[in-house]
Amino acid sequence: MSNEEAPIQQQQVDLEKTPEPAEPKPAEPHPAPAEEPQQPAAAPSADDAQEESHTFRALVLTGHGGYDKIKLQVKTQRMAAGSGELLVRVKACGLNFAELMGRQGLYDALASPPVTMGMECSGVVEAAGEDVEDRKAGDRVIVLSSSGLWQELVVVAADQTFLMPDAMSFQEAAALPVNYLTAHMMLFEMANLRPGKSVLVHMAAGGVGIAATQLCQTVPGVTVFGTASASKHETILQGGLSHAIDYRTKDYVEEIRNISPAGLDIVLDPLGGSDTNKGFGLLKPMGTIVVFGAANCVTGQKKNLLAIAKTWYNQLSISTMKLMQANKSVCGFHLGYMKDFSLIRTTMETLLGLYTEGKIKPRIDSTYHFEEVADAMRRMQERQNIGKVLLLPEPKKEEEKVPEKEAEKEEEKPAEAPASPQEEEKAKPEEAKEDQG
Ligand SMILES: NC(=O)c1ccc[n+]([C@@H]2O[C@H](COP(=O)([O-])OP(=O)(O)OC[C@H]3O[C@@H](n4cnc5c(N)ncnc54)[C@H](OP(=O)(O)O)[C@@H]3O)[C@@H](O)[C@H]2O)c1
Repeated sequence: MSNEEAPIQQQQVDLEKTPEPAEPKPAEPHPAPAEEPQQPAAAPSADDAQEESHTFRALVLTGHGGYDKIKLQVKTQRMAAGSGELLVRVKACGLNFAELMGRQGLYDALASPPVTMGMECSGVVEAAGEDVEDRKAGDRVIVLSSSGLWQELVVVAADQTFLMPDAMSFQEAAALPVNYLTAHMMLFEMANLRPGKSVLVHMAAGGVGIAATQLCQTVPGVTVFGTASASKHETILQGGLSHAIDYRTKDYVEEIRNISPAGLDIVLDPLGGSDTNKGFGLLKPMGTIVVFGAANCVTGQKKNLLAIAKTWYNQLSISTMKLMQANKSVCGFHLGYMKDFSLIRTTMETLLGLYTEGKIKPRIDSTYHFEEVADAMRRMQERQNIGKVLLLPEPKKEEEKVPEKEAEKEEEKPAEAPASPQEEEKAKPEEAKEDQG
């Protein structure tokens, strides 16, 4: 990682003194249904006068580059829930790999800086706008958006929110939507996962990887191969993975062929480049590879043009004639460009049902306060996380601040969250209550 900057411990707080007249809309809805007409900018109305002024913290991407490009800003703005909208007090936010890419300028679905980041969060409804019938103040909700949710207070379209099950903590709620929607749609909509099939899950200890492994376990007799750094194998094997492979020291293709000479039915590919070719080569006839990321482009804090060129040069390129003769499927999935919001809604309902039945459970790797966003990003980028990394809007309390050396030691410790829904069951009562306040 020769091109990395020196790590930055904490972001500076920039206090914006001039109140802006309009509320910061967190984002255009995620995803914006193609058929839905764009709302014209609202003309000033009598309601505007009723908008209260709020002061809140937000994590803003101020330019492309290293960790220091994300600034914690304190804003004072007038905000109110308009028609069909909710004002939500955010309790926890998910960090996604896409945000590492977005910071580097590698994520097309994110608007140009300055932009408030954040695609998923959980929180409590403070006010519901006119025409909102199925949400009210006090409801605990999950919010999905294309960006704008790393903020203490957000105004969102009510139909971009989902009611949290009673037993779900705010941290679990923030960890669920992007990872589990992605894993579920790929496995069940695209790859048609059925009993007895075999699946390769790369980044198996990450957010999507753990979600995919848990979802595979909802289907009888599915064999899950996973690649991950060796230190994470014990945990992910406990979490239901059938075979863990250390891709950093071993040739995973060879390892899989040794166990399953005929190959695999499904490959989920978040890496891109030569790994897509390897995944395609591993497929059995009638097998499916779903390409859904390009993590191989990310090698350090800043954009690495060499890694991008290498990934692009080595990507899978196949003619339809060859594809036909191979009897294989190649699919692409990107939640940020998913236009069918009704599918997202029904999939979320399925996922919340699976959660309530105890069949899936987000694994929380670690939580960081907004002012520690650089540390949160570093944890994911330096491949230390097992499960989801979360950001908490509330300021870090004085007593939580540990001396730097102790903090480093803490980081070495394995995460304490249970690895699987089964393990979770044992810990459920305490865990569920943990952060519902
Ligand atoms: N298309 C979509 O809609 C969609 C939605 C969500 C996520 N994704 C993709 O899914 C993948 C996983 O996303 P996530 O948010 O769940 O993240 P994540 O898996 O938690 O990401 C971090 C982990 O990935 C592994 N990794 C592999 N290559 C890496 C690299 N170049 N840099 C840093 N870590 C790397 C590391 O674990 P090991 O060392 O153990 O492998 C690391 O701990 C990403 O490629 C992301 O872009 C796509």
